[in-house]
Amino acid sequence: MTADPAVRIADLRSQIAHHNERYHTLDDPEISDADYDDLARELRALEAEHPDLITPDSPTQQVGGAIVTAFDAVEHDVPMMSLDNAMDADELTAWAERVVKGLDGTTPTFVCELKFDGLAMSLRYEGGEYVQAATRGDGRTGENVTANVATIDDVPDRIGAEVDPVPSLLEVRGEVYMSASAFERLNERAEAAGDPPFVNPRNSAAGSLRQKDPAKTAARELSFFSYQVGQVRFDDASTAPDLATHQSELEYIARLGFPVNEHVRAFDSITEVAAHCAYWQEHRHDLDYEIDGVVIKVDDLAHRDALGVTSRAPRWAIAYKFPPEERTTTLLDIQVSVGRTGRATPFAVLEPVFVGGSTVGMATLHNREQVQVKDVRPGDVVVVRKAGDVIPEVVGPVLDMRAADSEPWQFPDDCPACGNPLVQPEGEADTRCFAPDCPAQRNQKLAYFASRGAMDIEGLGEQMVEKLADAGLVKDAADLYSLTAEQLVELERVGETSARNLVDEIQRSTSRPLPKFLTALGIRHLGPAASGAMTAAFHTLDEIMSKSVEDLAAVDGVGGVIASTVHEWFEQDSNQAFIEKFRAAGVNFGDPDAAARAAEARAAVPQTLDGRTVVVTGTLSGFNREETADAITSRGGKSPGSVSKKTFALVAGESAGASKLTKAESLDVPVIDEAEFLTLLETGELPDRFEPAPDPGS
Ligand code: IVH
Repeated sequence: MTADPAVRIADLRSQIAHHNERYHTLDDPEISDADYDDLARELRALEAEHPDLITPDSPTQQVGGAIVTAFDAVEHDVPMMSLDNAMDADELTAWAERVVKGLDGTTPTFVCELKFDGLAMSLRYEGGEYVQAATRGDGRTGENVTANVATIDDVPDRIGAEVDPVPSLLEVRGEVYMSASAFERLNERAEAAGDPPFVNPRNSAAGSLRQKDPAKTAARELSFFSYQVGQVRFDDASTAPDLATHQSELEYIARLGFPVNEHVRAFDSITEVAAHCAYWQEHRHDLDYEIDGVVIKVDDLAHRDALGVTSRAPRWAIAYKFPPEERTTTLLDIQVSVGRTGRATPFAVLEPVFVGGSTVGMATLHNREQVQVKDVRPGDVVVVRKAGDVIPEVVGPVLDMRAADSEPWQFPDDCPACGNPLVQPEGEADTRCFAPDCPAQRNQKLAYFASRGAMDIEGLGEQMVEKLADAGLVKDAADLYSLTAEQLVELERVGETSARNLVDEIQRSTSRPLPKFLTALGIRHLGPAASGAMTAAFHTLDEIMSKSVEDLAAVDGVGGVIASTVHEWFEQDSNQAFIEKFRAAGVNFGDPDAAARAAEARAAVPQTLDGRTVVVTGTLSGFNREETADAITSRGGKSPGSVSKKTFALVAGESAGASKLTKAESLDVPVIDEAEFLTLLETGELPDRFEPAPDPGS
């Protein structure tokens, strides 16, 4: 039996619209290009079978039936590297000291450029003609966006022979960005059309470049600054200009018609560089485009060669990143939300304000005491900051602007969700709702159970949880496993397909690895790391449940608090009944044979790092964080988060933290790249350059 095509078509259209928004507006896609293409293909096929169901607003009918699909891959001739960061003047100075040391005591000329907040782009000209534009991608392979970039006015479509001999090949690199005024115009148009606003200029620029229809890109008014020559070649070498410094490269590309930013400055001391950075930190908003720092580059190309590059970034350049931004806005209200453990968290409802790259309308106030200490009150003008440029924070009130009749805010006595009293236990910072049947706690627990780091049930977000709970279909997470598609279609705005998909997803989650399930139970203090550690030690849920507090606490990575909370939790009758419901539903409780296999596997991996400490900073291309730690610990090593005297080696990946590098250097800890790390894992040996000097006494 096939489903109603009209229903499936509507479902596909809404999915595609959702993913278009994630991709183009938010620049934060949820699915792969291939999965997106599958949806588009299925929709096209269904519409071909049922032409009567085609509507003008179908994504297939827009811009000549073009749905955005993946762009072709482009291999970069010369990799597009990223930059290491300096987060403050000290880190900047430390970098400069390394540079001077690397140049045997010579202080080079430093060229400072603004760090534009856009997208790195490589432009290729053959025989003077624009032939290709490619994004940075992973540095080795980018996306071909030639047609879209061709619509950018700042990008020349040919290099005039009237100025200079034309190079046979020229690759110019720079940043595509959207100016603040273009961004404003874009949002005015969006508002007029009744569309949701774009989040920020950078994401809008990224989305604009990914349009399949270049006419759409053209309408977005993108701009370009060039800051680097990727490659340049002449058929007749005698006609080649002398490009021995970064400044001469910039002058050269400017002469050829590429836009070079007007604020490039050269300095002969790092003190002047630091002052220049401080200046732009103050004045970043004087510009009609967003910058997030200053890039400092060693001018002389011979110096650059001498300094070289690490696995992903040059040693001859650094990005000085501006600290978090602050803004003022009105605090409209303070409300309290109740989380899965009953914790009542006050949060600020703000007059939306653009800060640190996006619009902020809400910010956590953490707990009762924080509100008291900050003494923020509804109606106050407050300073809002993006801590670490991600999480918005209310710094405090602007007291000069406080209304005369303003009163301190009072933490509510009762839970806003269930009306039971909120209690702050002696000696604790948090205020909690202890009602066992509080709907806010129940819903948060369910949403947590289904979340990515836990059982990862797609389609079961907070809204769906609320619908299920309101309809009385689930009281706890174990009830999810008896839901049927028939029950789900009864809910508001749930189609047959999504109902079926959700039931399938829930079923699929029964086979999640045990640490995920253990995390999903939402036991206080028990996060993914401790869940993983317990599973590694005991392998099955039944084993874990049978252990004493002491047994649990003896596991590396499980402290006494976690051990006793977990033990207590499993002791409770209601929780045992809860666990048995999961068992009956067939949820994976772990493999009893795993213990024997784990011992065997350990014996098979040579213990090349036995007792040694290896720290990793930045990202590696071949491993994610978990795999890196695993590679080290499975070989008998330890992998803590910071460098100390005892560190055997520091592995520096892409965007390695400057502070770890500096620390390693000052402690004489060997710094190795990813390739050398692989050798270390295999052989336990460091590269020859770290051979200890022969002992003169022997
Ligand atoms: S030079 C090897 N100069 O920053 C040096 N990059 O974090 C390559 N960026 O991917 C980059 N303004 O997108 C350079 N004046 C500037 C820049 C700049 C912005 C971006 C670029 C790069 C990223 C590295």
